[in-house]
Amino acid sequence: MNPVEKRMRELYLQIEHHNQKYYVDANPEISDRDFDRLLDELKTLEEQHPQFATPDSPTQRVGGKPIEGFATVRHREPMLSIDNSYSSDDLREFDQRVCKLLSGLTPTYVVELKIDGVAMSLIYENGVFTTGATRGDGEQGDDVTHNLKTIPDVPLKLPKSPAHFEARGEVYMTRADFAANNRRRVEAGDEPAANPRNFTAGSLKLLDPKESRKRRLHFFAYALGSCDGIEVATHLDGLALLKRFGFSVNPHIVSFDSIEGVIDYCNSWATKRNDLPYETDGMVIKVNDFAQRKKLGTTSKSPRWVIAYKFAAEQGLTKLTSIDLQVGKLGTLTPVANLEPVKLAGTTVSRASLHNADFIESKDIRVGDTVVVEKAGEIIPYVVRSEPEARTGTEKVFHFPKSCPSCGSPVERDKNGTFYRCTGGRKCTAQIKEVLRAYARRSAMDIEGLGEKIIEQLVDAGLVNTIADLYRLTLDQLVALERMGKKSAQNLLDGIAASKERGLARVLAGLAIPHVGDSVADLLASEFGDIDALMHAGADRLSQVMGIGPIMAEAIHEFFHDSHNHKLIEELKALGLKLSQDRRPTPAQLGGADLAGKTFVVTGTLAKYSREEIESLIRQLGGKASGSVSKNTHFLVAGEKAGSKLDKARQLGVTVLSEEEFEKLIGR
Ligand code: IVH
Repeated sequence: MNPVEKRMRELYLQIEHHNQKYYVDANPEISDRDFDRLLDELKTLEEQHPQFATPDSPTQRVGGKPIEGFATVRHREPMLSIDNSYSSDDLREFDQRVCKLLSGLTPTYVVELKIDGVAMSLIYENGVFTTGATRGDGEQGDDVTHNLKTIPDVPLKLPKSPAHFEARGEVYMTRADFAANNRRRVEAGDEPAANPRNFTAGSLKLLDPKESRKRRLHFFAYALGSCDGIEVATHLDGLALLKRFGFSVNPHIVSFDSIEGVIDYCNSWATKRNDLPYETDGMVIKVNDFAQRKKLGTTSKSPRWVIAYKFAAEQGLTKLTSIDLQVGKLGTLTPVANLEPVKLAGTTVSRASLHNADFIESKDIRVGDTVVVEKAGEIIPYVVRSEPEARTGTEKVFHFPKSCPSCGSPVERDKNGTFYRCTGGRKCTAQIKEVLRAYARRSAMDIEGLGEKIIEQLVDAGLVNTIADLYRLTLDQLVALERMGKKSAQNLLDGIAASKERGLARVLAGLAIPHVGDSVADLLASEFGDIDALMHAGADRLSQVMGIGPIMAEAIHEFFHDSHNHKLIEELKALGLKLSQDRRPTPAQLGGADLAGKTFVVTGTLAKYSREEIESLIRQLGGKASGSVSKNTHFLVAGEKAGSKLDKARQLGVTVLSEEEFEKLIGR
């Protein structure tokens, strides 16, 4: 071999080796400068001896000079967009449409990850990469060939030479490179990019390929475009061909003969996708057979043989338009943000609690701000942060009012400065309503018919100011209320009367004693047996009870030594409420199975129970209700929209029960 040619081969190999180190291993062995030296030497030799140069030479990757501007490329076949779907039912509808149009033929579906990058068309003439273009408006895009040549996943030359060959796919940036690139950007004093997709798009718009190479872009091919002299009958064959031609094809591609298989596979990626080194924003489902695709055709916008399944976004930007204040049963003012509606994790979010003054101040959240809102699975919406850069100057710092928005009593900031409270106490109708709501709820006194609306009416009409007043209501009083028939009035009275028998634990759960929730109420009732023993217990005695700490003990003691509360208890006694506790009722008495020794976790939304109701029921039947799934969990009760807990339970082999199966288990 000619010594010049030999040196050129040597340089090829060295440069390819350093490309591999740089791109794939992200662990360069030589400086950029030394790399450029090797490249320059090769470039000079190629200029002097063009007969030895090849189209896939590494000089072709970064050999070009910066371009002046972007040329426009017209796509031989338009780059269509695809329809989106968001739920299993959407996918079933897609399948029904496909099957109907195929009249009798059954499709095989190929399911792929939807790579969150920038769509690209790569053109090869006689086996040599000539043009790479963005999607643009679908008809024509920007020529970004100079930058694409720097991407090692883009072959410069194909092993075969069809006259015209087009690969379509996605240019993307890995999460690790995104972070590293952003760090460099910030160090250089530039604004960081918002996400890898934007960074990728920006990198493709660079004029100088040397700069673009530094961003370490990647490419996955996912389809054949317009090709001459290539015969393939299915998408899977097309992908295999792309692989043989040297393209990177994503490894997570699976085919299914039924839509249910497709759905399960899609859902299996909902959380697993976070472990991938690059970002995906969903899945793409494609009919495999090209003859079937032809039969299905396209609408004006998108092919009928393909659909994207989008994972629900868990974070979004929206505007905080105003802040309401809710008065709690103990007078605490809770600020609640009103948001411009934003779709997150499959639901529309328009309100989110801002918790307290500390929360608002530490996050510097202002009325009119753009905020990042998060909703992961079953978790309630949460304001992650405000975006001060998006401010226009019209945003307003929020101040808590000096007086209660409900009763006008003075508002005080507590010792720690975290909470503001209305000092109106029993005079504040908002507080009274909340107290009654807490009292009537299912896991407390479970008063049938005493819902939010009725409570509102009863308090506003001045009929009820305390819990005891409920038991003094008469039929005549109720019937006089708006939209209250005789029958529902009687039902409500019956419901209230029935609650007299609930026993001490439920009364305690309903009394709005600070720090006392359902399980502490259970503890107190079984420890003390009746209300007098409990009322006379000092804080020391209370804190001897397992599970009750000194702060809780102090709060309970204080509650019962307040003269109003004392009076209320005496009234309830006189009205005939049962204020003692039998020994823990046996499961048989509750009409259910014995769940002793069994740990349950509840997840998702249930049809018949709130979270606290079902957990209270589990406890009453002797079981334990826990918040997280572990190998010690016996059962997971999964409702609608169950998320990561369900995945975890499946992984650990925990028995998963639907709501109906749970009811069967407990014999209801
Ligand atoms: S197929 C006509 N497959 O998602 C069908 N698209 O609107 C062509 N995308 O920007 C698209 N991963 O670039 C297909 N595995 C994949 C994909 C994928 C990402 C992008 C595509 C386009 C968007 C769909």
